[in-house]
Amino acid sequence: MSPRKGVQKRVLVTAGPTRERIDPVRYLSNDSSGKMGFAIAAASVAAGHEVVLIAGPVDLETPKGVKRIDVESAREMLAEVRKAFPECDTLFMAAAVCDFRPARRLRGKWRKKDVGQERASLELIPNPDILGAITRRKGDRLVVGFALETSDGLRRAREKLERKRMDYVVLNGPSALNATKTSVKILGRDGSQRDLAGRTKSAVAKVLVGLRAPSKG
Ligand code: C5P
Repeated sequence: MSPRKGVQKRVLVTAGPTRERIDPVRYLSNDSSGKMGFAIAAASVAAGHEVVLIAGPVDLETPKGVKRIDVESAREMLAEVRKAFPECDTLFMAAAVCDFRPARRLRGKWRKKDVGQERASLELIPNPDILGAITRRKGDRLVVGFALETSDGLRRAREKLERKRMDYVVLNGPSALNATKTSVKILGRDGSQRDLAGRTKSAVAKVLVGLRAPSKG
């Protein structure tokens, strides 16, 4: 299937954190604002692409011309990505997916008197790896993922690039969280590296949307 007439490509973007429920009023999450993914969605529309944006809980306006699907948990995000991936040409997986979720979601509020006053612990189980799962059927789609690392970034990001079958991985640090400006390294499957320092997320998004498939795999 090809994109609608006049449309360049079909671009799928994920953005924001996921939220993993402990009970009806509490959850585990992270500091992702969704700004990078939303900037990629906006830049993709500006480049003439058709865009589906799967967003975790964020406080951002939907860029004009974007079809947005809101999700909460990693498992909900996986289900929506699975549905949209076969129809896309490019995936930008910018979401900060929680690696773990509570083993049980309590129906009622978790109360101190139920778990003991001195110490309480929460059992966690791993969430599915969304990229790892869907790139098993990657075909010739362009897949760009992100890696936020606090140490040994280049090695860890390259390891993720291989393991999750990405074409490019965008390496950044914790200072990127919730910030307007960011510094990133874009690492390609072909061994390429491009450094962008102190740029706005819109400027980085424009570069990412312009990426072409790396020459060798
Ligand atoms: O969290 P991590 O550094 O492993 O994320 C690397 C890439 O994998 C990111 O693009 C992220 O969106 C994606 N990811 C995923 N499913 C997870 C965790 C991360 O798709 N459960």
